[in-house]
Amino acid sequence: MTDYIIALDQGTTSSRAIIFDKKGSIISVGQKEHEQIMPRAGWVEHDPIEIRDNMREVIGIALGRANLTRHDIAAIGITNQRETAVVWDKNTGIPVYNAIVWQDTRTQSIVDRLAGDAGVERYKDIVGLPLATYFSGTKIVWILENVEGAREKAEAGDLVFGTTDTWVLWNLTGGPSGGIHATDVTNASRTLFMDLQTLEWRDDILADFGVPRSMMPEIRSSSEVYGEARETSLLRETPVAGILGDQQAATFGQAAFDAGESKNTYGTGNFLIFQTGTDIVKSENGLLTTVGYKLGDGPTHYALEGSIAVTGSLIQWLRDQLGIISTAPEVEQLALSVDDNGGVYFVPAFSGLYAPYWRPDARGAIVGLTRYANRGHLSRAALEATAFQTREVLDAVNADSGVDLTELKVDGGMIANDTLMQFQADILGVPVVRPVVAETTALGAAYAAGLAVGFWNDLDELRANWQEDKRWTPNDDVEERERQLRLWKKAVAKSMDWVDADVR
Ligand SMILES: Nc1ncnc2c1ncn2[C@@H]1O[C@H](COP(=O)(O)OP(=O)(O)OP(=O)(O)O)[C@@H](O)[C@H]1O
Ligand SMILES: [Mg+2]
Repeated sequence: MTDYIIALDQGTTSSRAIIFDKKGSIISVGQKEHEQIMPRAGWVEHDPIEIRDNMREVIGIALGRANLTRHDIAAIGITNQRETAVVWDKNTGIPVYNAIVWQDTRTQSIVDRLAGDAGVERYKDIVGLPLATYFSGTKIVWILENVEGAREKAEAGDLVFGTTDTWVLWNLTGGPSGGIHATDVTNASRTLFMDLQTLEWRDDILADFGVPRSMMPEIRSSSEVYGEARETSLLRETPVAGILGDQQAATFGQAAFDAGESKNTYGTGNFLIFQTGTDIVKSENGLLTTVGYKLGDGPTHYALEGSIAVTGSLIQWLRDQLGIISTAPEVEQLALSVDDNGGVYFVPAFSGLYAPYWRPDARGAIVGLTRYANRGHLSRAALEATAFQTREVLDAVNADSGVDLTELKVDGGMIANDTLMQFQADILGVPVVRPVVAETTALGAAYAAGLAVGFWNDLDELRANWQEDKRWTPNDDVEERERQLRLWKKAVAKSMDWVDADVR
């Protein structure tokens, strides 16, 4: 009996395979971290072969732990870190360079060159995005311009590009022998190359970037049968039937399907998505316009997104670079060792600032330091940075939509932190709500796949699966909230204008 769906979540820090039942409950999980390769300041890479192999391994772990085989699995859903670019030789399956990760800022000079006199918003009306290092487009250009022989091979039609959904799909469905080279509309909407109206690659933009169209995957919906897992896979002959970029998947997993519904995910970075239905809404306040989902032949659903580059990764930084904690949860104990932030504010502009500022010239800043400040204050400031950044994105969403959100649905690794969630509610002034199944990213991909094969019938069935687990209610100290926010904004101002010709 095919009673289950397996979701493959190819994330920034790890790859996961999660098996779900019809209620959307987790049956088993396999998870493996991969190396974060940082050869220089601002550069972040992953080894695509390590990711491919980890994905195979975690599929085995998830099946093994649940004591299931492929015969129990109705379909495979894929979700992924978005924007991270892989370029590989389609004849051999060997990448010509490491994956260049979404946080990587090496392509700023390519962004500047493409922006020229027209500015970074030159394609925004078509693709919904400003030119920025964040998106896949300039990462492909960097590989073509900096890897020996890459341009020639690309022009000869031997190299292909994919975000990691495409990389996983291609390998799962046959690799060099017949692998399917496709992506879904949500991932495609993060490249800078897809027209939001037509859902097709724009030849003119590809030409401006110098990226051969033959490298680009086919754009498909988020929920349809793309193909079957190949013979040598543990999941052989199982249909791959759903693909959603991780943030859109989390939104789907939160059952936030309709215009006006939203969620905020607290992972490596934070991403608030606000569904706008079938309307393409242009932001006046620093949000991105992106595709929310498209189910088979159904209408395209669009969304506004507030992307914050550094939230959970700041906690990893305290752990790995400073060594003041040995595990992420320890940050909460340290933060609770002091009464307040001691006047310290930490702006983690490690990749510049994303929403709502979009300032590549910003860099990380810790301000308000005195001789009094200790590790506790620093930990507290690091946690609070996540809440302040979220508040600024929520303000942008409220301004763009013209209605104020009355509560915030949350998910992701950081929501295990009670102190942060309470502070978040206090700084927002609205309740923060966590669902029972916090693995919404994988759940959303499972939903997309399950809908395509009739495992679930409609969205109402999925809505019925959503259940509240916990709610944090804000305190009513409006004056303190506004004071803190004012100081945060002052700190943000101090992080700007750092990168100039002299800063390498
Ligand atoms: N108790 C905690 N307090 C604060 N931060 C935490 C805590 N537990 C985990 N984190 C942070 O949460 C992040 C992991 O969350 P999650 O697994 O949702 O990330 P992610 O972005 O989905 O990763 P990936 O991209 O690999 O899927 C890490 O950056 C970690 O530092
Ligand atoms: Mg994730």
